[in-house]
Amino acid sequence: MEPYRVKVVEPIPVTTREQRERALRRVHYNLFGLRADEVTIDLLTDSGTGALSAAQWAAGMAGDESYAGSRSFYHFQDVVRDLTSYPCVLPVHQGRAAERILFSALLTPGQITLSNTHFDTTRANVELAGCRAVDLPCPRAQDLDSDEPFKGDIDLRRLEGALRGPDGSRIALVVMTLTNNGEAGQPVSMDNLARAAALCREHSVPLFLDAARFAENAWLVTQREAAYRDMTPRQVAEEAFRLADGCLMSAKKDGIVHIGGFLGLRDRDLAERCEPLLIATEGFPTYGGLAGRDLDMIALGLTEALDPRYLRSRADAALHLAHLTRDAGIDIVEPPGLHALYLNAGRLLPHIPPHRFPGHALACQLYLEGGIRSVELGSLYLGREDEKGNPITTAPYELVRLALPRRTYGIGHLNHVGEALAAAVKGRERIPGYRLVEQPALLRHFRCKLEPAPA
Ligand code: F0G
Repeated sequence: MEPYRVKVVEPIPVTTREQRERALRRVHYNLFGLRADEVTIDLLTDSGTGALSAAQWAAGMAGDESYAGSRSFYHFQDVVRDLTSYPCVLPVHQGRAAERILFSALLTPGQITLSNTHFDTTRANVELAGCRAVDLPCPRAQDLDSDEPFKGDIDLRRLEGALRGPDGSRIALVVMTLTNNGEAGQPVSMDNLARAAALCREHSVPLFLDAARFAENAWLVTQREAAYRDMTPRQVAEEAFRLADGCLMSAKKDGIVHIGGFLGLRDRDLAERCEPLLIATEGFPTYGGLAGRDLDMIALGLTEALDPRYLRSRADAALHLAHLTRDAGIDIVEPPGLHALYLNAGRLLPHIPPHRFPGHALACQLYLEGGIRSVELGSLYLGREDEKGNPITTAPYELVRLALPRRTYGIGHLNHVGEALAAAVKGRERIPGYRLVEQPALLRHFRCKLEPAPA
């Protein structure tokens, strides 16, 4: 059971099917265009959507809003140092700000970054710095159905090859994303992380953690990696941070806050190069784009996120939804992790070709059936077509992500999602594909317009 009870409630919108049909037409079948009060269960993201604890709200009230030298900052710094072992802690308003500041200070145009998989803002910030982001996911990640415990790992053979190869001198850094959001939220093993760290050390290349979901990765390590079975998630997390030279943190995930993040660094010279960028674009180093109260709320959230009872209940919720999904006849990327389930829409809707976006079609259908908002991770997100709508590139898989906000939805809500999934499967032959009618040049999935394209 959940190791907390509810103290504050927020009504959720309940709509009729007619209202949802009208809303979908109005937003040109793009779920990002919906108003939140048209959504009953919002599984768009687990970022900034969690519920704060009473203790976090109380700590926020006691926050110190001084511009310089805020008490809240020193408390936050102590907590982050204690967890990560990084002496330099730069608060930022969210993860992507940490990426921009680190890459602006560390990268020079023409260099290369390597990762188990760069998250999309991480990749964008590498490219904005004039560099190339190369993903090296392990080959096991390609089998969506296998039970392999650590499909989020980096491919060590290719990492070593790249570091030793002709472009080795251009590799500026390696980022390990824990858990690997770009590979269906699969975790990274401590063995893989330690070996990657050793390779980086051998080649004098700095290693950074994208630690957005560090606590969930640590939990999965205690469950799936024999050598860590008797350790607490906190001990695993501490060891992971110690293996790296620094971290990029979006506290909107495992900080369990609505906004916030930080950059943690071992190298004081590098921190000194980052500081002017922080001051110019985020704020003075003792608040860095946040309010004092946010710093106190993050400090507590980082601790609460490592509570084994909380992590277990979160894993159980994901498992419950995984059972409902499989029972409905939909395959997910196996094994289920914690922050999201990834549905195999391509397999469910074989009558919809990739350039008619089966993932998007399933996401729209889930909204129609139950007011559930999810997000496509398939060819709408990753593909490209010519002017006539014929495919140039398609995504490797056509997936839909059901993200689980922290401490927000209970079993009743998940059962409602299960019913919508079952209803969608029942009428699956009649689910239409979609055709793009308008798209921006960049990041099209956020703002594009579509229309149904029945087979
Ligand atoms: N790294 C990872 C692994 C992420 O998942 C995200 C955000 C970021 C960095 C960027 O952090 O949003 O605080 O700037 N992921 C969200 C998601 C948006 O829905 O998966 P941010």
